[in-house]
Amino acid sequence: MSERDDHEVIVVEALARVAAVTTTEELRELGTELLGRRSPLARAKAGLSSLEAGDRRAAGMALNAARQRIEQALDARSQELVAAERASRIAAERLDLSEVVPNRRRGHLHLVTQARDRLEDTFVAMGYTVAEGPEAESDWYNFEALNFPAGHPAREMYDTFYLEWGSPESTLLRTHTSPVQIRVMERSEPPIYSVMPGRCYRLDTPDASHLPVFHQIEGLVVDRGITFGSLAGTLDAFTEAYFGPGFRSRLRPSYFPFTEPSAEFDITCVFCKGEGCRTCGRTGWLELGGCGMVHPNVFAAVGYDPEVWSGFAFGFGIDRLVMMRHGIDDIRELITNDVRFLEQF
Ligand code: PHE
Repeated sequence: MSERDDHEVIVVEALARVAAVTTTEELRELGTELLGRRSPLARAKAGLSSLEAGDRRAAGMALNAARQRIEQALDARSQELVAAERASRIAAERLDLSEVVPNRRRGHLHLVTQARDRLEDTFVAMGYTVAEGPEAESDWYNFEALNFPAGHPAREMYDTFYLEWGSPESTLLRTHTSPVQIRVMERSEPPIYSVMPGRCYRLDTPDASHLPVFHQIEGLVVDRGITFGSLAGTLDAFTEAYFGPGFRSRLRPSYFPFTEPSAEFDITCVFCKGEGCRTCGRTGWLELGGCGMVHPNVFAAVGYDPEVWSGFAFGFGIDRLVMMRHGIDDIRELITNDVRFLEQF
């Protein structure tokens, strides 16, 4: 076999191996094997020195040509592999954020949070702002400024958790959202149209209708010329906006120290739509919350002139509202965190 044929065999074999390589890493190793110091081509080159000058030149050119063909094949294969590896790396790193993963349970807002959001939306649509206040309150905000002086019998309506902070019974967990009325009036001037949702606490043993932690939403309006008619109309408008057409509200006389006159407000029974059923005691009405005209002593506590301003307030339990709406007969279901219960809403 001539030298040229020898080279041809080396090149053909090399090209086949180059074509078979599948990674840039392997290709780099193969390159060393085919062209490096210990390669057949390097050995052939070393053998050139034993040839005569004339033959040496031709043999050298043949060797270089063979080497170039292998180099070109390595280069071309390298470009292909780099491109392929880049493409597969990009494919592997691809994040499809639109992907819907089936059969996976997704969480959602708690029923009480959904109700709170909807209540806020309903009032915001009526032009109200949303305000918040702290859950740990002073006696002054929770009682005193709301016209419950120390020893006032109406304090008995609220079984209070006191905190060990400051002088005895000076700091507590708010028993209702009404202290936020005081905070809103303290930090702003009338007119005020606000709702104040939040968590409240009473020292109750849990049973089907009581929890020591529950939620209320408070409403406060202070402006010129606000009357009891404004209160009744507002509650009626709210009831229809929240519960739907045909739902009405009514007021019954009641007592709260911070409103005068005061009332309880009822809404059309959500079960019988006012026909009269067992749940509403055949009255067609369900009691929702308390309300009334802001007491002049409350205005005095925040420095509003009761000759100029008048207003109304209302408040009701969000948990109770949710129970009525969905026919839940045990309030403890709301905090048991049983997924089978929560999933329904
Ligand atoms: N804060 C009262 C309660 O929790 C409810 C209420 C709010 C009454 C506003 C009148 C006006 O019992």
